Amino acid sequence: RHVEALNKLSFVDFVGKLGNIVERCPVVAAAVWSERPFSSAQGVHEAACKFIDGLPTNGREGLLRCHPDLAGALAREGRLSSESTGEQRTAGLLDLTTEEQADISRLNARYKDKFGFPFVLCVRLNKRGAVLKGLKTRINNSKEDEIHTGIEEVKKICWLRLVDILQREQVDTI
Ligand code: GUN
Repeated sequence: RHVEALNKLSFVDFVGKLGNIVERCPVVAAAVWSERPFSSAQGVHEAACKFIDGLPTNGREGLLRCHPDLAGALAREGRLSSESTGEQRTAGLLDLTTEEQADISRLNARYKDKFGFPFVLCVRLNKRGAVLKGLKTRINNSKEDEIHTGIEEVKKICWLRLVDILQREQVDTI
């Protein structure tokens, strides 16, 4: 069982493997390590969610701020993390027309201007049409609601990344 392999990892190796389950926030994996042993992937995810929910508001906003813009400058320059690249590619965000890209950029900028953090959406569960629609509707929410919604999306992204790592682990060990 691959979760057992995770339980055996040193702190450094654990953070090396799981450091990006939340985009550019290795502190989540670092915090979760203390909760070993885990009996399942769900257990790891619950520990990550518990840590995130226990953060003060500025900590949760900080997690959101660590996310690059969807279809943004880093994506265009090929400087996204490998996880974010894969996710944005699946959603079709890496081959938008110039017009679509301009629409998303404009809305991303308005969103960030209003809330002070970027629009975060689990793009593996949302195709590009849903990204535009999500931006257009969520921009009307309150900041408090958007911190909550953004963080719930972070948890979904985290779960899918975790499953990927554990599946890879299984392949590595047979
Ligand atoms: N959803 C999935 N990955 C990302 C990301 O890297 N940035 C943002 N803003 N949303 C995401």
